[in-house]
Amino acid sequence: MDRKKNCVSIAIDGPSASGKSTVAKLLASKLNYLYVDTGAMYRAYTLAVIKAGLDPKNEEASNSLIGKIEISFNENNKITLNGEDVSKEIRDNDVANNVSYIASYKNIRLFLVSLQQKIADNKNIVMDGRDIGTYVLKDAEVKIFLNADVEERARRRFIENKENGFETSYEACLENIKKRDYIDSHRDFCPLRQAEDAILLDSTKLSIDEVVEKMEEIIRSKGF
Ligand code: DC
Repeated sequence: MDRKKNCVSIAIDGPSASGKSTVAKLLASKLNYLYVDTGAMYRAYTLAVIKAGLDPKNEEASNSLIGKIEISFNENNKITLNGEDVSKEIRDNDVANNVSYIASYKNIRLFLVSLQQKIADNKNIVMDGRDIGTYVLKDAEVKIFLNADVEERARRRFIENKENGFETSYEACLENIKKRDYIDSHRDFCPLRQAEDAILLDSTKLSIDEVVEKMEEIIRSKGF
């Protein structure tokens, strides 16, 4: 089946706190494309596991929710779990500390990837995650790999948490990001890596607007 007819997919991958979600959202709104935050879907699944009293480190127990929970985006593009807006809860430390385990389980990934591909079907879309260019939307017209130094990413996450009212230290953010980088890039199935045809963009010294501008340049250079 032809997945799309004259639609453009933009895949943005990169490690935790590289700024993907912020810039991908802005970019999508500028282009009038749909924005999909796939990390939010892994977080929502993790929240479901925690809420069910299951252990996220236990793959078999975590798998037991596949097909039994509904993860979706509402009309305001907020992530929902069984119809309830969980956009705030998925940012909790408890979820952040466990999501990499959930994201390393193949059957859960296949479940969420199939939802992601359905959402992207026949739409102009900006999708961000870890495996969008390498797996979910392998035929995306534009692929960007957004990176930044780990210390800068920890600094950004620390500020973001503070703004959202989550008490953490810079050191805890750095530790969490390093741990997630390791798990995300070392898992067997669909590890975080740059697609061969993706363009690398380093945001360490760039402002949000500068990153969006660079992305627009990349998209234009591809003829879109
Ligand atoms: O982008 P984020 O920090 O909200 O992602 C949360 C976790 O989900 C992160 O540990 C990596 C994982 N993830 C993934 O494995 N594949 C994706 N497409 C998106 C996120």
